[in-house]
Amino acid sequence: MSTLKAVRGTRDLLPPETALWNRIEATARRVFERYNFGEIRTPVFEDTALFARGVGEETDIVSKEMYTWEDRARAASEKTQSLTLRPENTAGVVRAYIEHKLGETGQLQKLYYIGPQFRRERPQKGRYRQFSQIGAEVIGPPSAGSESPLRDAEVLEMLATLLDELGITGWTLHLNSVGSSADRARYNEVLRAALADVAPKMCGDCQRRAVTNPLRVLDCKVPEDQPIIEALPKIDSVLGEDSKAHFAAVLAALDTAGVPYERNLRLVRGLDYYTRTTFEFTHGGLGAQNALLGGGRYDGLSEAIGGPKAPGIGFAMGEDRLVLTLQAIEEAKAVKGDAYIAPLGESMNPAALKLARELRREGLKVELGDGSFRLKKSFEAADKVARRIVILGEDELASGILTVKEFASGTQTKVPRAELVDVLSK
Ligand code: HAM
Repeated sequence: MSTLKAVRGTRDLLPPETALWNRIEATARRVFERYNFGEIRTPVFEDTALFARGVGEETDIVSKEMYTWEDRARAASEKTQSLTLRPENTAGVVRAYIEHKLGETGQLQKLYYIGPQFRRERPQKGRYRQFSQIGAEVIGPPSAGSESPLRDAEVLEMLATLLDELGITGWTLHLNSVGSSADRARYNEVLRAALADVAPKMCGDCQRRAVTNPLRVLDCKVPEDQPIIEALPKIDSVLGEDSKAHFAAVLAALDTAGVPYERNLRLVRGLDYYTRTTFEFTHGGLGAQNALLGGGRYDGLSEAIGGPKAPGIGFAMGEDRLVLTLQAIEEAKAVKGDAYIAPLGESMNPAALKLARELRREGLKVELGDGSFRLKKSFEAADKVARRIVILGEDELASGILTVKEFASGTQTKVPRAELVDVLSK
């Protein structure tokens, strides 16, 4: 008899790894508590219509990836019903918000969840058929301020804090606005028109999307299609004044609070309910599946599934991906040095020794390169023994500002000498 194994795309989590999962969940709960979120637990399966109407029939998730079955009636009083294992949790939370009339409290509802989700995707590192999300939603009647751009900025600031407390450094926040549902519809038509001529030169998926859901073309990763996509009209060209003002207010609040972000005009996200702000946090250490988390506003979702007007914003983090990222960071910390100092030219060797001496006296684990190495060789040598490389040349010495590259995330930054110890100890 052949031995039975866990189904493709599913996994057993064993100790000691489960301890890391528990630590992540405990940290998330602690941070959510501080921002006054409460926990919601919705069923793992729902009526298929919830996802068809909420997430959207044309999305990859609903059209290709759901685990759906016909649930047979057990008694005359029951009907056969199409059920689906939840591929995400936002639609379920909004359904519960409507079902329990939470809007009638007149308050904003701040809800978080931790639990398994199911998508029939092609499994690879960081992508599973059963995976776990840690997510949160802020939703309520407009009179409770649910549309305020401050809510968007607060959610993003909370995420920056949560990643910090988890010990995940080197993330990038990609931010965009997809506008109101009217702006989005207009952009779809603008793209459809622009794609009419060029789609035949694109990949098969894009040819199909150009007709069914032109926005999805922006997600295409096929290298040959990229120049065509870059030349398409940008979402900025169709955003209405309200959407522009809302987005500008989100950015202004983030700037003041000191949360760094990058504008990404192609970030439209794979679910149809998004309006206005959309975002993703990526991490270079994850490889191809580099999205740690994603989210955005969904001002029309409640109405789409038969509820009252209830604008909202939220996100979901891939817990499996948080674990992978933390394991990579911890592994690097355990065996590698904090920094590798690369002098640019032999004349810089004495200054490099002085810098290494100062950093080591601060308790850092430091490797010292050699100025006779070419830069490429220094990078290769550094990557093997340290988590970061610090470049020291004439300019750096004169300005006191050093170039630091972190290998796990691939990010390169300019760091003043006074802040160097802090940055390297992270
Ligand atoms: P999503 O972008 O589909 O958004 O998923 C959020 C995160 O879940 C992804 O960034 C990724 O980390 C993780 N994830 C997704 N699929 C997989 C998979 N197959 N294996 C492992 N991890 C995965 C949503 O689900 C929205 N409900 C987020 C949201 C909440 N928007 C507003 N509120």
